[in-house]
Amino acid sequence: MDEEVTVRPARPSDAKSFLELFRAVAAERRFIRTESVTRSVGAFRQSFRRPVTPDGATFVAEAGGRVVGHIAIERMAHPVNRHVATLGMMVEGPWRGRGVGSALLEEGLGWARSHGVEKVTLEVYAGNEGGVALYRKFGFVEEGRLSRQSKKSYGYEDEVIMSLRLA
Ligand SMILES: CC(C)(COP(=O)(O)OP(=O)(O)OC[C@H]1O[C@@H](n2cnc3c(N)ncnc32)[C@H](O)[C@@H]1OP(=O)(O)O)[C@@H](O)C(=O)NCCC(=O)NCCS
Repeated sequence: MDEEVTVRPARPSDAKSFLELFRAVAAERRFIRTESVTRSVGAFRQSFRRPVTPDGATFVAEAGGRVVGHIAIERMAHPVNRHVATLGMMVEGPWRGRGVGSALLEEGLGWARSHGVEKVTLEVYAGNEGGVALYRKFGFVEEGRLSRQSKKSYGYEDEVIMSLRLA
């Protein structure tokens, strides 16, 4: 945990380590929608070939040669929503609460600002204190709540919609 953390665009060679992170966070079940990962290393290798485009960006946090955090931010697809980007992110359990999430979000929002994105939105489970704290710290505000929106293996979760205006 003493290693230095570097945040940078994802590379194809990160795919295997990223998948281990994704599987570990999915197995925790309660923070992200996915509970078991079905996509292959090859699919992620492919998607990490162009990590930064005008449509979106994927950054990883690397420590000791491993991926310990990830953020993906992308513009919404419909023409009337193109000024809005959505994001998803995760940090490996032992690395949480050490500023990695903040560094990833800084980078993701930097991409958004430099690409003319006007608004960033996300959904977070109501009881995800770490997630809500991180987003509030960056100025995200709650826009609404979708009650029992996720049907998880252990029961329902409400999804809180949070957003940040950049323009
Ligand atoms: C949400 C998550 C990405 C935050 O990353 P992180 O590396 O822990 O975030 P940081 O260390 O940068 O903390 C950001 C702020 O939130 C606060 N915070 C972090 N965890 C917290 C917790 N459990 N309760 C209250 N506050 C918390 C920190 O104190 C910090 O504020 P500060 O800088 O004023 O001290 C990480 O907890 C995670 O990956 N969780 C599991 C997956 C997940 O929830 N993804 C998001 C789904 S919407």
